[in-house]
Amino acid sequence: MSTGTAGTAPGADGVVRRAVCPGSFDPVTMGHLDIIGRASKLYDEIVIAVLVNKSKSSLFSVEERIDMLTAVTAEYGNVRVDSFHGLLVHYCEAHDIPVIVKGIRAVSDFDYELTMAQMNHGLTGVETLFMPTNPEFSFLRSSLVKEVATWDGDVSRLVPPLVLERLAARLDERR
Ligand code: PNS
Repeated sequence: MSTGTAGTAPGADGVVRRAVCPGSFDPVTMGHLDIIGRASKLYDEIVIAVLVNKSKSSLFSVEERIDMLTAVTAEYGNVRVDSFHGLLVHYCEAHDIPVIVKGIRAVSDFDYELTMAQMNHGLTGVETLFMPTNPEFSFLRSSLVKEVATWDGDVSRLVPPLVLERLAARLDERR
């Protein structure tokens, strides 16, 4: 399933420059949106690829995550949302995507991301672009948002309003 806008326009040479922003997005945060929004200015089309990982428990289903991502990225005009399972490089090959965009929050992200980028490049030649996260969000990850929200901490500046609403509703259901 793929959702999103059809605002994609090819460059002057007729080639659509496409990149993927992969992740779990359980749920999407302002840190993710910072990277997606900036990447959407660099490429004709950004595909947000949500990993389907049956062995990892999640707060939101893949469909719910796709729904939230589609709503909060609609304003960018050239972003669509999809899901994938298995290797990201295989998804990239199947969808003609030569570039993976990854946000780097801190040096601690770099070691792990570098090994993945090198492995992915070695497998199929796909490139990885590292984009430094806005320092405002350098501490931010979905798991922290969930933990803080679970104990009634204020996460209103860390997720978009729609996500805040759905997060509160889901945590209420689980109480
Ligand atoms: O938001 P996350 O959970 O940090 O995202 C991690 C993700 C989905 C980008 C990464 O785990 C991934 O690409 N998984 C797909 C499986 C894969 O390709 N593994 C080999 C990496 S070298």
